[in-house]
Amino acid sequence: MPFLELHNLKTHFPVTSGLLFKKEIDRVRAVDGVTLSLQKGEILGLVGESGCGKSTLSRTVMQLIAATEGDVVLEGKNLAELPAREIRRHRINFQMIFQDPYASLNPRMTVFSALAEAVRRRHDLKGAPLEAHVSGLMRTVGLDPAFMKKYPHEFSGGQRQRIAIARALAPEPKLILADEPVSALDVSIQSQILNLLLKLRRELDLTMIFISHDLAVVKYVADRIAVMFQGKIVELGPAEELFDNPQHEYTRKLLAAIPRITAE
Ligand SMILES: Nc1ncnc2c1ncn2[C@@H]1O[C@H](COP(=O)(O)OP(=O)(O)OP(=O)(O)O)[C@@H](O)[C@H]1O
Ligand SMILES: [Mg+2]
Repeated sequence: MPFLELHNLKTHFPVTSGLLFKKEIDRVRAVDGVTLSLQKGEILGLVGESGCGKSTLSRTVMQLIAATEGDVVLEGKNLAELPAREIRRHRINFQMIFQDPYASLNPRMTVFSALAEAVRRRHDLKGAPLEAHVSGLMRTVGLDPAFMKKYPHEFSGGQRQRIAIARALAPEPKLILADEPVSALDVSIQSQILNLLLKLRRELDLTMIFISHDLAVVKYVADRIAVMFQGKIVELGPAEELFDNPQHEYTRKLLAAIPRITAE
């Protein structure tokens, strides 16, 4: 059984006219019939140009937006069939990592408070056991627990993304949705964070959808790559294969657009 299955998933946004009696005059087909599946422990790269529907797809998978049509099936359970209360409970199984860790961390919360709050969504811990748990999380993402009483602004960009990753891991999610997680970081820091994600996948058997507009980054972390174009997956295959032998014209265009940096 696949770990996660999407069946003909559609998310349309209505475009309306009229002030009082809103009439749908058109719709944005942000996600328009996506079918794919992920195995446990797999990293699926999702690439495509700005506005093609990558973030909408991930928010629909997380049940943050209701799908217009189609199903999200996690470990054989169709999430659309769960009652609203169950969906809220289920949401901790999906955690996101965003592009800008500074925007996603509360500046008035210490690292300890931010991580403790996230841990307590899953475990009823307090006092010394909670502190030990937070220390363990910090070590897992390569941060020194001695800094747990510091605030986000006291860390570098790369360290802040480590905090955001620790916070995403804290409630022990089943699926991580990483939306451009390294796009805001310096190139040298990017590879450290990508290596951390790969280490976590090995150690924790994490399953991840990794969204990026940067094909080189996606090739480095993903097992398979899905190419999205105007709400649809136009090509999906093993990362190496997709690079070496792209089938779809749009994939070839994307590949041709990768800047090649060569030493003189
Ligand atoms: N809440 C919304 N209401 C109406 N339209 C929306 C909404 N959210 C997204 N859209 C539209 O859906 C389409 C897909 O947007 P989405 O943010 O998913 O793209 P994306 O692939 O993540 O782009 P980017 O690479 O720039 O992040 C766009 O045309 C966008 O304008
Ligand atoms: Mg997006």
